[in-house]
Amino acid sequence: MERLQKIIARAGVASRRKAEKLILEGHVAVNGRIVTELGSKADPARDKISVDGRPLTRARSRVAILLNKPDAYISTVSDPLHRPTVLSLVRGIKERVYPVGRLDYHSTGVILLTNDGELANFLMSRASGIPRTYHVKLEARPRPEDLRQLEQGIALDGRPTSPCRIRPLAGRDKPWYEITLVEGRYHQVRRMFERIGQPVLKLKRVRIAFLTDRGLSPGQWRFLSEEEIRKLKQWKVGVTNLENRV
Ligand code: URA
Repeated sequence: MERLQKIIARAGVASRRKAEKLILEGHVAVNGRIVTELGSKADPARDKISVDGRPLTRARSRVAILLNKPDAYISTVSDPLHRPTVLSLVRGIKERVYPVGRLDYHSTGVILLTNDGELANFLMSRASGIPRTYHVKLEARPRPEDLRQLEQGIALDGRPTSPCRIRPLAGRDKPWYEITLVEGRYHQVRRMFERIGQPVLKLKRVRIAFLTDRGLSPGQWRFLSEEEIRKLKQWKVGVTNLENRV
């Protein structure tokens, strides 16, 4: 949530001072209701803000979107093979968003898209330590010592992987495991399981930090709220939230 005058000013409608005047004089509405109090706040990603009845379309200058990626979509902006891209699922928004990181063509689950370079860089940086959790389907149960090895780290591209956490998931037809990583290297999950002789049959990303696919069927998306964006940007890896990490 942000102060209305700040949102209006950022949308380029008026200076912050002038925006305050517009609010006081009853020119500003939030979700159809005139707001005249100066301390009022709104969520530019969700609330419909208008000045003299005209919607503030540019209020959403920085957006972040959480998409539940279905199978058989590519998570690049374009594809030389003309396969459908995740961008084709995010219709009706003006901003040019791009995917933060990748999910493979046949991987499913949550992926973020944004036009906020600062947020994207932060999420992609190793230092951010943002945990990502995946569910993977394997052909057979790996040996416990192999799983322990993956958890402790293996060499990929000549560099050890960071410690991760792997847990079996109960009640499925085939063996399914949950794996939480705090880094995202190229095809990392698939390559890690391949290393112990277990090709991944299915891969779904179920969580990025605190974001899950709750309420989003495959192909559906939603804007992150300002609060969620702030929480992501303030993600701190520390001893106190090691439990959050992995
Ligand atoms: N790791 C992979 O190997 N594939 C994905 O799609 C995501 C993580």
